[in-house]
Amino acid sequence: MHEGRNRDVPAKSELPWGDILNYNKLLNKFKLSEAERKQNDSIIKSVLEKVAFIIKDMKLDASPVLVGSSARGTSLKNSDIDIFIQFSKNLDNQQMERYGLEIGFRVIPDGKAKYAEHPYVSGLINNVKVDIVPCYRMKIGERTRSSVDRTPLHTEFLNSVMDEKDREQAIILKLFLKRIGVYGSELKTGGFSGYVSELCIYYHKTFENFLKFVNETRNQLVIGPNSSDFNTPVVLIDPVDDRRNAASAVSEKSLSILRISSAMYLKNPDPGFIDLDNDLDKEVKDYDRKTYMIILELKRPDIIDDILFPQIELFKRNLMAFAQRMDFHFMNAHSSVNSSTIQVLLELESGTLPALKIHEGPPADNPNALRFYEKYLHDQEVVRGPFVKNDRIYVEIQRKDTNFKIALEKNISKLNLGHNLNSYKGKIKMYTSKKKILSSMAYREFMSIREPPDLSAGENLKE
Ligand code: UTP
Ligand code: MN
Repeated sequence: MHEGRNRDVPAKSELPWGDILNYNKLLNKFKLSEAERKQNDSIIKSVLEKVAFIIKDMKLDASPVLVGSSARGTSLKNSDIDIFIQFSKNLDNQQMERYGLEIGFRVIPDGKAKYAEHPYVSGLINNVKVDIVPCYRMKIGERTRSSVDRTPLHTEFLNSVMDEKDREQAIILKLFLKRIGVYGSELKTGGFSGYVSELCIYYHKTFENFLKFVNETRNQLVIGPNSSDFNTPVVLIDPVDDRRNAASAVSEKSLSILRISSAMYLKNPDPGFIDLDNDLDKEVKDYDRKTYMIILELKRPDIIDDILFPQIELFKRNLMAFAQRMDFHFMNAHSSVNSSTIQVLLELESGTLPALKIHEGPPADNPNALRFYEKYLHDQEVVRGPFVKNDRIYVEIQRKDTNFKIALEKNISKLNLGHNLNSYKGKIKMYTSKKKILSSMAYREFMSIREPPDLSAGENLKE
């Protein structure tokens, strides 16, 4: 199905700076070393053998297959090993999931069950993360039951079109995307998956050409064959299933970070920047913002990131909407999460409002102007007016809630914070003291944000 697809790529990269950049130092540092590859290969071999043995033992119609970056030579030092078990389509979903978990736990007894589209087992073998994932056996073009069924096809496809040079370019691109914080398709990151990164190289041949392409395009980023069927920020039609957009997880923010980072890198290309070990300058400026800040703190529920993060986003959105509904001037919201705690920092221009608000009535030539006048003339809440200014009638009325924290305490039980976070509403702690705010994780993170990261921070690798 993919044969003969037009790669439409210039044969040679036309770099604006003429220089040839040397990425060897970077590759030597972050590609698997020969020894690490051997260690991984022996883990892979032993897991594949164990799974095959258990399948035989259980008399199942299934087969193990190595997928992901370790099947394609695009692993980074801390990439995981992805082993899939392809089951016959004759098994129903429940059977497949049950067998999948059983086999997974027999191979990694101290592993953990994780929940994606199907449950799977994830654990450490000799300190390397190994995922054992059940799926259905599929051929290219066949309708899949779930998205993981395509994963073995991804490996087949990429291995048939990528050579060693392409794989190195994909590794450089993955490192760059990691460096700027947009690698990974989890909801928390909303970035580029390993598979999408490799397809970027398949279509654009080199890392630098891909950045150039990103830099030259506007609006939606379409990688590979054009399609108007998807309206996500990035579109990449999956070569093994043209009904699917492989880049659907990439958020608008991640694309924006990539766009600005690409422009910066092309202006001053420096492979040293991509080095993940180079610390970025993350100092917190000591500057009195003279704004109002409040931190809402709650215990982190024991749920996976992909379920938690959308709820934190909803929490922030609803807090912002609440503040605006109450007439407070919203400036920023930032959330910060560690293994035990969630903090949401809210910044407003001020935490208090005047005791009254100006309420605008209709223009004088509108029949409702008289109704407005009659309605407010003897209203107890009116502190001044009705009065006329220019073409309209107005009153000034008392404001009920003038303090943000008090208003929030009164109303928090009515805000929707998301399914799991809602049960913590009664236990949310609120801080407004300057000392507490300045030392909080949310404030430090909020103040040290650099997006995109400073590209001049790296050590120069041009040789
Ligand atoms: P991984 O997340 O492990 O990615 O998913 P990877 O390509 O192996 O890259 P690294 O080096 O570990 O970061 C394993 C495979 O699952 C499929 C892809 O085929 C991927 O290679 N997958 C994963 C997707 O199709 N979409 C996703 O969002 C995630
Ligand atoms: Mn992987």
